[in-house]
Amino acid sequence: MLAQSLLNLSTKEAACHPIAAGLILSSSFWFYMPVIGQNYLGSQEFGVTVTATDAKPSSDAQSTRAHIIVVGNAKGGSGKSTTAMHVIVSLLTMGYRVGAIDLDGKQKTLGRYIENRQSFVSKNNLDLPMPSLSVIEPSEKKNMDEAQTDERARFVAALQEQVYANDFVIVDCPGADSFIAKLGHSFADTLLTPMNDSFIDLDLLAKVDEKTYDVERPSWYSEMVWEQRKRRAMIDKHQIDWLVMRNRLSHTDAHNKRNIEQILEKLASRISFRAAAGFGERVIFRELFLKGLTVLDLRHKGVGVRMSMSHVAARQEIRQLMDALRLPGVEERLEKI
Ligand SMILES: Nc1ncnc2c1ncn2[C@@H]1O[C@H](COP(=O)(O)OP(=O)(O)OP(=O)(O)O)[C@@H](O)[C@H]1O
Ligand SMILES: [Mg+2]
Repeated sequence: MLAQSLLNLSTKEAACHPIAAGLILSSSFWFYMPVIGQNYLGSQEFGVTVTATDAKPSSDAQSTRAHIIVVGNAKGGSGKSTTAMHVIVSLLTMGYRVGAIDLDGKQKTLGRYIENRQSFVSKNNLDLPMPSLSVIEPSEKKNMDEAQTDERARFVAALQEQVYANDFVIVDCPGADSFIAKLGHSFADTLLTPMNDSFIDLDLLAKVDEKTYDVERPSWYSEMVWEQRKRRAMIDKHQIDWLVMRNRLSHTDAHNKRNIEQILEKLASRISFRAAAGFGERVIFRELFLKGLTVLDLRHKGVGVRMSMSHVAARQEIRQLMDALRLPGVEERLEKI
């Protein structure tokens, strides 16, 4: 079910909602300061506030807010932007309105992927569905607190605009322990973490005994997610649904695949995520970037890329991921992708 309308919330309920509420940061801790219009229910001493009044949608926009999917992992190069784009195009293909927020404004991989799509569509006069896009550039302010305040304000403003205009909003995080990435995680309804099928990637989720493969303790990324989940549950009782998917799965290394799968299963119950098989190592997941396309677009007339058996397998992997995500309403539309 799509999340309830912010506009229909009572003042007290809305004050407890992370989208309606202003997000306040002190140097060491985050606070949500509830603000509705000019009706401040919290202290203003931390400065920045975003009001529900500012975020009111135009009259023709939908009145329910979008489901927010955050794609995050502290590990660089694990496939976050690739996965984000494939989730976006899947949802567009199912007929949903989709917003994209690229929090990695420095690399801007997702932003460039979508811009490439726009220019391919325009050049070739195609009728492909497009997401709306916001890119959050890194702040140019020198002072760290000011820079964080600036980035937070621009992110929250983009989010508030996108959540009223779309059914789903996908937030692509940078692969580092940055302020903006943590902030992104706190807004997740669903958190999707792609990881390469390797012990190095696994190490960011948990410390594992090298002989028994028993899980010794969660690593800092899992602890950070845990913190965001606790905080979110306190704010609006929402349980962030966390799905870890394996990416770039090898077609040959069955032994490693099995080991990682077993460890992930143990870990899943220990730190409460759901594990999904994810995507194989396939050229089709990377070769269409310059055109802004995915394998799901190849059936469209005029796209000019021929389907092969590997493409069929890739589509099946995407469909399985979309199914595993258990997003509201998506199950009935899975046959469209
Ligand atoms: N399933 C896949 N098959 C083949 N190549 C892939 C697959 N997934 C990702 N890649 C490639 O792996 C590289 C890293 O992917 P991507 O940029 O999506 O990762 P990221 O986690 O967003 O990285 P960063 O942390 O730098 O933002 C890219 O070259 C991408 O094309
Ligand atoms: Mg990226």
